[in-house]
Amino acid sequence: MTSSSDWPFAVYDRRRLSVDTVSKEDIENAAHLLRMGKLVAFPTETVYGLGADARNDQAVAAIFEAKGRPRFNPLIVHVADVAAAEREAEFDAVARRLAEAFWPGPLTLVVPRRADSGLSLLVSAGLDTVAVRAPSAPVAQILLDAFGGPIAAPSANRSGRISPTRADHVAAELGDRVSLILDGGPCTAGLESTIVSVAEDHISLLRPGPITPRQLTKVAGLPVRGRAGGGKITAPGQLESHYAPRARLRLNATSPAAGEALLAFGPNAPDHTPSLNISPKGDLVEAAANLFAMLRALDDAGHDSIAVMPVPDEGLGLAINDRLHRAAAPREGEE
Ligand code: TXA
Ligand code: MG
Repeated sequence: MTSSSDWPFAVYDRRRLSVDTVSKEDIENAAHLLRMGKLVAFPTETVYGLGADARNDQAVAAIFEAKGRPRFNPLIVHVADVAAAEREAEFDAVARRLAEAFWPGPLTLVVPRRADSGLSLLVSAGLDTVAVRAPSAPVAQILLDAFGGPIAAPSANRSGRISPTRADHVAAELGDRVSLILDGGPCTAGLESTIVSVAEDHISLLRPGPITPRQLTKVAGLPVRGRAGGGKITAPGQLESHYAPRARLRLNATSPAAGEALLAFGPNAPDHTPSLNISPKGDLVEAAANLFAMLRALDDAGHDSIAVMPVPDEGLGLAINDRLHRAAAPREGEE
């Protein structure tokens, strides 16, 4: 794990910030920094977030600056629970039902801002909607509690790079641009939240993620429409090259070429060096949790090309393949 000496305040060691050992001072320090308009990186169950006070324009602007992210891309606002979300945004019956079913957890709802919302306009980047979610990771919950307000947080990576699933990823990308990194260990889901908006007769899937269309339909009683048809960019951040490693990715590769690194999946991976297997037993949940960290490890090792074995396009595999396709897409105006 990262040493604590290099950063302005501290990078906490995982053992110190496990659920029962996180000190009150650590969290109070983080909440204090947020109140001062500083940036604090924190773990969620999906990926690490780069957090700022969502009501403070300057703090929110600092997020864009730290990420090198274009202004037009709106941010997710993290809240403690449904009640806190409803203070900032309008929830219809379906949105409320989804929030109550899946929060705290990896579901983000895009809903209309309330006219009297205290949220910075910058978090919506000019839209009259806001993306909100209540994260379930204990450290995120404790931090929201101590801070007592909404925290805007995109994934804690530089724009166009892979989302971080461990504190040392954050330190490597943003170390000197963030006041504090809370280390809660590796993220359990390892894949960004599912993003939806609710329409009259259906749910729009803006970004696939850990909560699947089937789960959404079961709770809401509405069909889910989305990325399958048209390929239109509905979430401004859904540019093809969003999840971009430096290496080129060759998808659906069954036999890696000499000189290529292999990102393997399942028990029938070919014998190859270098190679990392996101799930030797072929388990999609394990694969999702390992995806970004292993992609990053191969990318950081400096290989020009990474061959990626096929991953079944079902369940969580849909979201994994979505990320892989974007990581493989030609570079364009980055998120
Ligand atoms: O799991 C996650 O969602 C992580 C953790 C930190 O919560 N956050 C995350 O945030 O992935 P970010 O900023 O990297 O991705 C948020 C996505 C972007 O594609 C953005 O364009 C979209 O949500 N988004 C935010 N507000 C929106 C809005 N009002 N309408 C449509 N899309 C929105
Ligand atoms: Mg992101």
